[in-house]
Amino acid sequence: MKLPRQFFRPLAIGAPTPYRELPVRLERMIHFVPPQNEKMRSKVPDLINQVDVVLGNLEDAIPADAKEAARAGFIKMAQENEFGSTGLWTRVNCLNSPWVLDDITEIVANVGDKLDVMMLPKVEGPWDIHYLDQLLAQLEARHNVKKPILIHAILETAEGVNNVEAIASASPRMHGMSLGPADLAASRGMKTTRVGGGHPDYKVLSDPDAGGAPRQIAQQDPWHYTIARMVDACQANGIKAFYGPFGDFSDAEACEAQFRNAFLLGCAGAWSLHPSQIAIAKNVFSPDKDEVAFAKRILEAMPDGTGAVLLDGKMQDDATWKQAKVIVDLAKIVAS
Ligand code: GLV
Ligand code: MG
Repeated sequence: MKLPRQFFRPLAIGAPTPYRELPVRLERMIHFVPPQNEKMRSKVPDLINQVDVVLGNLEDAIPADAKEAARAGFIKMAQENEFGSTGLWTRVNCLNSPWVLDDITEIVANVGDKLDVMMLPKVEGPWDIHYLDQLLAQLEARHNVKKPILIHAILETAEGVNNVEAIASASPRMHGMSLGPADLAASRGMKTTRVGGGHPDYKVLSDPDAGGAPRQIAQQDPWHYTIARMVDACQANGIKAFYGPFGDFSDAEACEAQFRNAFLLGCAGAWSLHPSQIAIAKNVFSPDKDEVAFAKRILEAMPDGTGAVLLDGKMQDDATWKQAKVIVDLAKIVAS
């Protein structure tokens, strides 16, 4: 009998964190390309050595009358390039669209062996993943695809958030999940037209000052709750969590801040929708060198991962050893 994944718990000593499987592949930025655009397709060879993942987008942002051209363009782009260690992903249309069946069947038939991950938008519950899982299994068998295509869900509906744990554990094909703040805002009835990031009206004020000094305003992160919930669901199932898009290309600082929050909370990467966001993601989702140096000191100070020591006045013990190992392991992958 095959035991469910939760029975295979790593030993407490020496494990980075319970249940966690470290990423074996860097996926700091999932770079979106509109494949119907020949000029953009011609830039793919340059992108390959620059980004961790290239994604051919077939869903939102591709006009209805360009859906077939985008699908055909993605197939061409996959056939014409060798991707090496760069991941090749596609985002297909959502399951109740008129295009999705052809997206899935034609892509697996033509470039199934090259595709690493299929991103599925607007996932509402595990039933969506089960459907895609079965369909991929049938198509892989028909077309003799050697390696299973993984599934990445976008968390972008209120119902999806409600079912996040069941989605994360729906199939061994699950690669991970991305937050989709734009669709999620609409689905929740949030009053914003932004794609990710904060909002000047989502804030708290400091208490009134008796002397009449102006009150301090602190903006809050409207995505904190969903990201934290998604990270827990993903890590508990050994899959990866990602922040999705940041739509204001003119505000690199705010993009960096949103990506950094996601990184600190446990996300492995974010989407880059504009070339300027590639470097931001690369920097944010690679551990900071001073942090790595301190983390290495923790590991060295506690060679077997147990006990308690003081470093620069800060208490370290088995738990901080595990935190340090997460950072040092990621740094090793970045350096390799
Ligand atoms: C992404 O697809 C989003 O809706 O934010
Ligand atoms: Mg969306």
